[in-house]
Amino acid sequence: MLREGYESYRRYVNPLITLRAELLGEPTRITGVQDGRLVEARGHVEDFHGTQTFGHRHPAITAAVTEFLASDSPNWFPCRVNPYAGLLAKRLCERSGAYDNVFFANSGSGAVEAAMKLARAATKKPRIISLDGAYHGTTMGSCALMKPGMFKDPFGPHVPEAGPIPFDDVDALAAAFREGGVAAVVLEPIQLEGGVRAVSPAFLAAACELTEKHGALLVADEIQTGLGRTGRFLASETWPRRPDALILGKHLGGGLVPISGMLTRSELFDRAYGEHYASAEAHNTTFGGSALCCVAALAALDLLTDDVIARVGRIGEVFRAKLASTLARHELFARVKGAGLLVGIELVPSDHPWLSFEHFGIDALHDQPTIGVLTCHRLYKRGFYCFACGHDWRILRVLPRFTIEESTLDSFVTAIDEELEYLCNLT
Ligand SMILES: Cc1ncc(COP(=O)(O)O)c(C=O)c1O
Repeated sequence: MLREGYESYRRYVNPLITLRAELLGEPTRITGVQDGRLVEARGHVEDFHGTQTFGHRHPAITAAVTEFLASDSPNWFPCRVNPYAGLLAKRLCERSGAYDNVFFANSGSGAVEAAMKLARAATKKPRIISLDGAYHGTTMGSCALMKPGMFKDPFGPHVPEAGPIPFDDVDALAAAFREGGVAAVVLEPIQLEGGVRAVSPAFLAAACELTEKHGALLVADEIQTGLGRTGRFLASETWPRRPDALILGKHLGGGLVPISGMLTRSELFDRAYGEHYASAEAHNTTFGGSALCCVAALAALDLLTDDVIARVGRIGEVFRAKLASTLARHELFARVKGAGLLVGIELVPSDHPWLSFEHFGIDALHDQPTIGVLTCHRLYKRGFYCFACGHDWRILRVLPRFTIEESTLDSFVTAIDEELEYLCNLT
């Protein structure tokens, strides 16, 4: 059945993605899952994409979902008063220690959209500021927040008064506030697709101060950094002030179901939607926070103990240090970035003509470095799935599962060391 499904994907869903995956040698014929890893003909694959924080199909999350399906509970509540969503919202608010209102959606983009609408409705101002290099999703609002490029250009005209200022530029931020009309500043604590780069403490201080002073919302998109990934429950815990809205997604559903959330304060919810019964439903989505999704999310949160998060911080630091010291000998290596188990490996583009996209017959990508995808290609053969950052192809994004053994991380260090040596020798 799966074999036919793979061919149907090529034919009916996205032929180019299928071709790209095959050309790059990505594991495209997965036959199952074992101990959190993917199984394919060549062996086991350690998935470093990041959505499977507890590994693929963690038994506890799978059991919670199975138990729910075996019960007689409705999955969907027509009046929207959904007890499972209530329980999950309470748990998230208590755990975050800063919020008391949650909106659930089915995708990260949907939650970003909710934050943008909250900001406009609560402040009655139009402008939503983001940062160059951000990735916020694929809906019209979220893609307006991104810089020009493939994620944005084909879809204009874009949502007005929403878009990026230069990355980490305090002067540009101050100028935007002087112009006025700012409803929100939307930030990723560490931009993942932008190349695993963190906003500086100086920029954060300015963003916290200016949003507060001008009554704008500070929004943290923690879809990548949240829920333990950086060695804290939330990366924004350390900001000078807690964001007014916080966005979670990806692994919120334990890697099994689609669910995202936008956490805020009830005072802001009231300002935006609390006018009367009809306005309370002005922003909603049919299946956001369905019981099945909330059950999976609650099970995932049970696994995400303080000890697990502390371990992410600890082993992440050791892993990054080992990568930095081992890879330092290679000309093609620049540096290691990130926090916890959100790791970026910056490589140096080779100027050897054989290692250009033109050489491989892909002229349209002539301005992109090949080094990231070539390294990924070789790592797939070694059983590690990672990828280059969407906005910066020099940088490998490596987001291991939280349950990974340190010996597997050591094997990855050895594998990338050997593969970089091979690529260095080619040039
Ligand atoms: C930081 C960030 N925001 C938003 C999104 C969009 O989430 P989704 O793909 O679930 O719509 C992503 C997805 O990768 C993301 O990394």
